[in-house]
Amino acid sequence: MNAQYDAEGNLRHLLTLQGMSAPMLQELLARAEQFAPARSEPLPEYRLLAGATVVNLMCEPSTRTRASFELAARRLGATVLEFDVSNSSQSKGETLLDTVLTLEAMRCDIFVIRTGDTGALAKVAEQVDPRVAIVNAGEGNVSHPTQGLLDLMTIRRHHPDVSALTVTIVGDIRHSRVARSAVDALQVLGVGELRLCGPHAMLPVPDQFAGCQRFTDIDEAVSGAHVVMGLRIQRERMRSDEMPEADEYFRDYGLTDARLAHAAPNVIVMHPGPVNRGLEMAPELVEDPRSTVREQVANGVAVRMAVLERVWKTLRLDRGAVHV
Ligand code: CP
Repeated sequence: MNAQYDAEGNLRHLLTLQGMSAPMLQELLARAEQFAPARSEPLPEYRLLAGATVVNLMCEPSTRTRASFELAARRLGATVLEFDVSNSSQSKGETLLDTVLTLEAMRCDIFVIRTGDTGALAKVAEQVDPRVAIVNAGEGNVSHPTQGLLDLMTIRRHHPDVSALTVTIVGDIRHSRVARSAVDALQVLGVGELRLCGPHAMLPVPDQFAGCQRFTDIDEAVSGAHVVMGLRIQRERMRSDEMPEADEYFRDYGLTDARLAHAAPNVIVMHPGPVNRGLEMAPELVEDPRSTVREQVANGVAVRMAVLERVWKTLRLDRGAVHV
């Protein structure tokens, strides 16, 4: 995606992980590792976004992504505007682009945007001022790049050699931006084997997720896996007649201790959250020592610090590109 990079190939916006170079992805992950111990108050050496104004503009609900972007920006010394979409002039018909252009006129620099509208972020990125960066905080069912980065950071902490891994993603893959960005990131880093598992109606359509094996039998899919990632069922992206019966779904696709017995001995169990306990995962598995659910949340702050720092650096590098 060309709008993502400036003329020198620096990360100008973060729209997708698809097609990102391995060195750029590695650089973001390495920087996130450095930020991981950051305290809640900005340290003098971490005031790297001093002078920047970051807007959190979430057109769909969020707990983790919204809160961690806000904390990441504050820990880097930025001014943060938590934009209340539901009480904004979008309810009077103003578009996302016009909302961004309005706030851009108030000298906001970095827009962290979540939207259900596929393709909207690339259009906004093409039309904003050169002094402005757009960061994808979740776009429809197509991408959630900072989730993909935090998932990779978590996986590598437990299994540093990604090329040796079998990773199984279970659940509502068809509607999941999390699965797409995780697969994009894992493929950039040369993952050993990628397996997608779910009922037919939740598996991706045939021309998507190239390079992944597909399973409808969860025991086959989990067998020997080093990473098992559950996904939230995306009710908001389904028709009511597409929703599975909860009991049947948990019986056939819920992650349980018994199912993990078939996985590799050092398996980790991931979920992006929010978890529907007893539907996607057995309730007690969320706190199991093999679960990384809370660790993923913690890593999200560090990853978002790395991304905000990177796009702000690019704006500063491009001569005259920062609001003064
Ligand atoms: N994983 C994730 O995106 O969570 P939120 O919807 O709470 O941000």
